[in-house]
Amino acid sequence: MNVKIADLEFEPLLSAEVIQTRVKEIAAKINTDYKDKTPIFVGVLNGCFMFMADLVKNITVPCETAFTKLSSYHGSTTSTRHIQNDLDLLIDISNRHIILVEDIVDTGNTLDYLVALLQSRGPASITVCALLLKPDAVEFSIEELKHVGFQIANEFVVGYGLDYMELGRNLNGIYKRVSA
Ligand code: XMP
Ligand code: MG
Repeated sequence: MNVKIADLEFEPLLSAEVIQTRVKEIAAKINTDYKDKTPIFVGVLNGCFMFMADLVKNITVPCETAFTKLSSYHGSTTSTRHIQNDLDLLIDISNRHIILVEDIVDTGNTLDYLVALLQSRGPASITVCALLLKPDAVEFSIEELKHVGFQIANEFVVGYGLDYMELGRNLNGIYKRVSA
């Protein structure tokens, strides 16, 4: 069923069931890859919160969880995107295996910034796990992007943590904007 969020209409793209099945597959791969590594899952707020929770519920190896918060905005006089570090990662990550958990990779700008920042702090490794990837929008190639839930078209999506004007994060499926 379509949903109306503020002034826009959205239609179903990925159901809660499809998402849960894929999240379990990703978790199973991580459980194999990170045996005896005690990884730290680092969620990128706000959008990651549902994916992060469902992912770690299916992790069976010892692990830690932590969060950071970034926001990006377009400068008013330039198309350059600036990343603002709203909440730095407050733990020591030196010699630790880091798994960054993102809701969606669009241009890749946010992850490009975050991976470089965290690499400077001497972790043992960094990989990125993103629920969604828009391959047609990518401008920064992220070598560390190891796990992608779903590749989607270059469309605006909401739900399962993702918002439109801060609304819709609570939806348990993912919806795409109905083109006018
Ligand atoms: P970049 O371009 O840095 O963007 O990879 C990543 C961040 O932009 C947000 N984003 C979206 N949010 N629906 C949303 O609700 C979308 O379709 C969408 N595309 C990008 C998101 O915060 C992501 O972390
Ligand atoms: Mg995000």
